[in-house]
Amino acid sequence: MKVAVVGAVGLVGTELMKLLAREEHLWSNLEVVPFGRGSAGSTVNFKGSEIEVRHLRELPEKKWDVIFLMADETASEYVVESLRKKGKLSDTLVIDNSSRYRLEEGVPLVVPEVNGNLLRTFSGGLIANPNCSTVQLVVPLAPLHDVLKVRRVMVATYQSISGAGHKALNEFRRQIRGDAPSPGEPQYAYNLIPQIGDIDSRGLCKEERKMIYETEKILSSGGLEKPLPQVIPFTVRVPVIRGHSQAVFVETESDCSLDEFKGILGRSPGVKLFPEDENYPMPAYISGSTMVHIGRVRKDDKGIFTFWSVFDNLMKGAAYNAYQIAREVLGIGERILTSYEQG
Ligand SMILES: NC(=O)c1ccc[n+]([C@@H]2O[C@H](COP(=O)([O-])OP(=O)(O)OC[C@H]3O[C@@H](n4cnc5c(N)ncnc54)[C@H](OP(=O)(O)O)[C@@H]3O)[C@@H](O)[C@H]2O)c1
Repeated sequence: MKVAVVGAVGLVGTELMKLLAREEHLWSNLEVVPFGRGSAGSTVNFKGSEIEVRHLRELPEKKWDVIFLMADETASEYVVESLRKKGKLSDTLVIDNSSRYRLEEGVPLVVPEVNGNLLRTFSGGLIANPNCSTVQLVVPLAPLHDVLKVRRVMVATYQSISGAGHKALNEFRRQIRGDAPSPGEPQYAYNLIPQIGDIDSRGLCKEERKMIYETEKILSSGGLEKPLPQVIPFTVRVPVIRGHSQAVFVETESDCSLDEFKGILGRSPGVKLFPEDENYPMPAYISGSTMVHIGRVRKDDKGIFTFWSVFDNLMKGAAYNAYQIAREVLGIGERILTSYEQG
């Protein structure tokens, strides 16, 4: 199988290359070719060998089984539109991690544990990988909605610096060594930034808009009953290197006990539940994990449920979700049942 990885030297691309190397045995005759722009001509390590990063403009010239787009919106648009023009898009499995095509009609936006049913009949073309904070929210939200009908979910995010890519991470590392912010860069070190992306006329920043619209698109394609939950996000960048956290508040139509609520979360695909109050997940300890870790689950006297959630934004929030999509479409490895299919 010929696989192109665009953005292979980036934070997400690096994780994807590691996943492919680790699971090479599952793929038949795997050939991985890394692509980039500034990094073209340099090398990346793949299974102990140095392989050259090719320039992105060479990509449309060749035939690929799978293309992982792990760069930015411009790179994704260049690849997708080049393939469209050549009439080759539907023959190739293209998984895009940028936000360029996520809300485009006809492009599946997939978290396998939630709406992986869309992948069962997918034969080729473009699939979008959701925003990391959206993935983190929908993995527990979909099974809760399925059983309890969630009316409203309020979520405060605590998003790590690696979520903003390798340049932001390098800047953060400089700042914690004592350097002042570079021109045009925010103060990341010892600070909290309550805005991720531009703010619109309603006061919502881009990350919050992504969480609202992408959640709606994913849940409405997962076979879940309507009306869908109202999503009220507040997104914050925090001085953590890797691992996003969320405080989630859930209002449901149907009541249940705290134990039943924990039971739903504990059975949910992709969730690792910490059922005891004083043993909870934290970003420092979950690097490399592919699960959404949930702890401090509680219920107040008005019937509102609250929980704390932590996951690796570079893995389940990006590289691993994309990799799962590829495996599901190609029928490689074990099938992932959605909570809806699992019953
Ligand atoms: N980081 C996360 O937690 C996360 C989560 C979900 C989704 N995403 C999305 O995943 C993508 C990658 O994120 P990242 O954090 O890995 O970013 P990153 O560390 O900045 O890496 C992106 C890589 O893409 C390459 N690239 C950028 N523009 C390009 C272009 N026009 N042509 C060719 N190569 C180009 C760059 O490589 P060169 O050095 O070769 O130019 C860069 O190393 C982004 O779309 C991001 O929004 C990230």
